[in-house]
Amino acid sequence: MKIGEIVSASVLGGLYATLQLENPEDLRIAYPVIVEGKTYDFYCMVEDILNEESEIAEQLAGCAMGNVIVPTGETHEGFAGPIFYSKAKLRPIQLIEKKNRKLSEPQTIPPYFSECRHATKEDVELIYHPTAKSATIGSITGVEPFYVQLDFEKLVEKPFAIYGRTGVGKSILNKLLCCAILAKKAGSVLIFDMHGEYGVYSNTDNTEGLKYYFPHDVEVFSLDPENAEARQFVLEPEFIEPDDLVVALNNLSDQMVDMIYQIDREKGQKDLITAIRTLDSANLDESKMHPATAQALQRRMSRISRLPFIRKGGGKDAFGQLMAVIKQGKSIVLDFGEFGTDSTVYLFLANVLARRLFEQYTEMNEQFPRLIVFLEEAHRFLAPAVSSYTIFSKLARETRKFNLILAIVDQRPSQIDQEVRSQVANRLVMSLKEPSDVESALAGVPDRAMWQNIISTIPPRTVAVIGDAIRIPTVIDVMPYKDIEVREHILGTGAWTADKEKDLASKADEVFGKGSEQPQPLGKPK
Ligand SMILES: Nc1ncnc2c1ncn2[C@@H]1O[C@H](COP(=O)(O)OP(=O)(O)O)[C@@H](O)[C@H]1O
Ligand SMILES: [Mg+2]
Repeated sequence: MKIGEIVSASVLGGLYATLQLENPEDLRIAYPVIVEGKTYDFYCMVEDILNEESEIAEQLAGCAMGNVIVPTGETHEGFAGPIFYSKAKLRPIQLIEKKNRKLSEPQTIPPYFSECRHATKEDVELIYHPTAKSATIGSITGVEPFYVQLDFEKLVEKPFAIYGRTGVGKSILNKLLCCAILAKKAGSVLIFDMHGEYGVYSNTDNTEGLKYYFPHDVEVFSLDPENAEARQFVLEPEFIEPDDLVVALNNLSDQMVDMIYQIDREKGQKDLITAIRTLDSANLDESKMHPATAQALQRRMSRISRLPFIRKGGGKDAFGQLMAVIKQGKSIVLDFGEFGTDSTVYLFLANVLARRLFEQYTEMNEQFPRLIVFLEEAHRFLAPAVSSYTIFSKLARETRKFNLILAIVDQRPSQIDQEVRSQVANRLVMSLKEPSDVESALAGVPDRAMWQNIISTIPPRTVAVIGDAIRIPTVIDVMPYKDIEVREHILGTGAWTADKEKDLASKADEVFGKGSEQPQPLGKPK
């Protein structure tokens, strides 16, 4: 359907179309639109929609005769066209050569009065054609919903980031990404699951977790000894290093930081935690360590010293088990149980684990399977003040060649060290409002001003994907996280799990009234 005509154009500045829609509300920002040039179809995205200022409009506003005399919309086209029309600013994204459907970069403009129309499924399919390792996380709005393909092999080759305000759907998007990564066998994932969202079912909204879809490819470890469905996670205290404490206990004074390193140097056979706890602060050599500082440090440390999962594993080093699972190419969900609300625990544990992983991946000669580490609240590790102590900034910079890939998930991109942010190859940006965050999330992106407008106006559950995992930067409506959608669009029909079969069988039994005494399969917690 024709929606308008091009009235001005510039390669650098974009195209302006006057609209022949009765109601400008029928068009929205980021809709795909085709401008029919002579040689090319210009595949464009709506960048802005505007009603320009006009003197007549101002005079007519509020006037009772307005409705009678004002010709609007496409039905009132006279010699001079309608007096009042809306305009759309269009940003050409790709040129599609009419005769052979070849794609190229938009380096030219269409003639005056070129027709604009909504993009069709065929237009869109040409741009986002599927590859062996591509899957979808959602659709473009505009015409009919069209499921956009992302290349997951490319996505997990280099560090990537997911940015967006709290509550806009980052965790759900993460789950979709993880499902696609596992379904396409592009790698395995390590998730620090603070809120119990990724195991079999999410504790927060009851949606299916990774272990639900991939019961054999995902292992759940838990800090919570009560969690019977997971393996116990025990951290051996001798693996704890000064940096881990500095990151976890943020805002330590310089004296305390120095003291931690000093104690570490002098700790002898003890582990660091025990060495700090057992420091006799009353009898210190004051020229080397100040008693008040030591006491303050011990107070700050008491939370960590008491963590029940830091203990000698009795030969059951959880990290060893974790590595064994990783070497088999499986994914890991580390469930924080009751410690999920304690950011000290998260900072501490994520850092210890990532450091040991980094050591394993970089020191060993053998090649480990590709592992993508999802780091929520990344700014807590990657703020300029702490990033030198954490392994994560190194992980962002150095590990591509080691198959250990960092996925940053964050609501405050402006608080992440600029140097780390710049390592990110693909960005999945959801709604952000704080101007500094919008700017940081999009630093270095071509057409940044346009993207800033988009990111500050898009609704929740919408994501702009920018990078080499997608053919062109695209705003995607994240698909509803529903079992049926995930199966249809990400897993394909082949991924029918044994659990699901049992589940269905039991439902059939319910319907037909049989087997009521049979054990119930894994069901949704009420
Ligand atoms: N794609 C989606 N499908 C279904 N529900 C969603 C989707 N995205 C977000 N939601 C809903 O919004 C809530 C918040 O999303 P969440 O991913 O937890 O946000 P964030 O991690 O950004 O704080 C979820 O509990 C869920 O109910
Ligand atoms: Mg979240």
